[in-house]
Amino acid sequence: MLEGIVTWAEIDLDAIAANVRSYIRHVGPKVEVIAVVKANAYGHGAVQVARAALAAGATRLAVHRAIEGVELRRAGITEPILILGYTPPSGADLAVEWRLTPSLITPEFAQAVSARAAASGITLNLHLKVDTGMSRYGLFPQEVIPFLNQIQSLPGIHVEGIFTHLATADWADSTFADQQVQRFQEVVTSARQAGHPLPLAHMANSAGTMKLRSAHFDAVRPGISMYGMDASDQWPPVFPLVPALTLKSRVSRVYDLPAGAGISYSRTYITPGPMRAALVPVGYGDGYHRILSNQGFVLIHGQRAPIRGRVCMDQFVVDISGIPGVTQDDEVVLVGRQGAETLRAEEVASWANTINYEVTTSLLPRVARAYLRGGEIQEVHSLGG
Ligand SMILES: Cc1ncc(COP(=O)(O)O)c(C=O)c1O
Repeated sequence: MLEGIVTWAEIDLDAIAANVRSYIRHVGPKVEVIAVVKANAYGHGAVQVARAALAAGATRLAVHRAIEGVELRRAGITEPILILGYTPPSGADLAVEWRLTPSLITPEFAQAVSARAAASGITLNLHLKVDTGMSRYGLFPQEVIPFLNQIQSLPGIHVEGIFTHLATADWADSTFADQQVQRFQEVVTSARQAGHPLPLAHMANSAGTMKLRSAHFDAVRPGISMYGMDASDQWPPVFPLVPALTLKSRVSRVYDLPAGAGISYSRTYITPGPMRAALVPVGYGDGYHRILSNQGFVLIHGQRAPIRGRVCMDQFVVDISGIPGVTQDDEVVLVGRQGAETLRAEEVASWANTINYEVTTSLLPRVARAYLRGGEIQEVHSLGG
C-alpha cells in the first residue's frame, strides 16, 4: 500500500485504543474521557484517531476550532465535539449546522448561537470556559455567575459544561495546579448553588489526569498521552503508554564523499575524512525542523546515523560510515523504533529545542499517513489520494 510513497507516518491505532483504555481505567466509570484530537490529532490524523478513541470508550471529542469539528462531522462522526477555542459570533451558523459544542466567554456569542439555534428549532449545548490561572482564554471566576445569569433566559442554548485548563500539571510541584483545582471547584460549586446545573465540569489534560485525582471532576481531556507521548519531563507516566507514531522515509541515494567536502547549503559541515553518506528525502517542507541541522539522528538498519549539514526543505544528508550495507530505498526511521533502537519524540524534541507536542503536530500533509491495526497497514492517506 506504500508503493511510490517516499515519506510517511505510521499511526498505530491499537496504541491509541490502548492508551484511551488506560485513561478510562485510571479515571473510573463515573468520569468521561474527552479525546483531544485538535491540530489533526497532534499530527496523527483527526478522523482515524477520533474513531479509534471513540471505539475504545472515549465519549466525546475536543478540537480547537469549529472547522476541525466540521471535518469530523463530514467523516460521519456523531458524538459530541467540543470546540475548546474561540468561535466568532459569525461562526455560530457553523456550530449550529454541524451540531458542534462551542465554548463561550461572551454574551455576543451566546446571543448569536441562540438566534441561529432557535431559528433551527434546536437547543445547542455550550461549555463555559473559565480562566483559573492560564491568563488566556476564559472568563475570570468572579465573572461566571453574573454571565450565566445574563444568558440564562436565551432560547436555543444550554450551558452543558464548564471547563478550565491547567498551566503546570506537568510539574513535579503541584502547588499551583492545586490552587487552580481549588479555584475551579469553588466556581463550579457556587454556580451550581446559584441554580446553574452545569452537569459537565472538566479541567484535566493528560498530566492533570495522571497526577491529580482532585482534577478529574466529571470528565478529563487527555491529548498528548493518548498518542503515547510523555505528559511531563519531570516525572514518568503513571501508567504505561504506547507511542502511536513512527515517522519513516527511504534512503534516496548512497554515495562516498572525500575529506573536505562541504555538505548542503552554506557548507556548515565539512567532512573531516572520507565519509559514506545517505540522502534522506525529508525536510522542513514535511515539518521536520531545520534546527535539526547538524543536531539530529535517524535510524538506518537499527543504528543511529547523525545528520550532517543543513536540513533543507525536502532532504538532508546523514553519515552512514559506521553502518555497513546500506542501499538506496532502505527504510529510515526519524521518530520511533527500528530494530533495537528508538528515537522517541521526546528525544527528537530535545535536539530541536522544542517539546514532543511540536514534533508530531508539525508533520505536514505531504507526509503520507498509514494507519495500522494488528501491526498491519489498513489504509494510507497521501496527497492526491
Ligand atoms: C483546553 C485544552 N484541554 C486539553 C488539552 C490536552 O492537553 P495535553 O495534550 O497536555 O493532554 C489541551 C492541549 O493543549 C487544551 O488546550
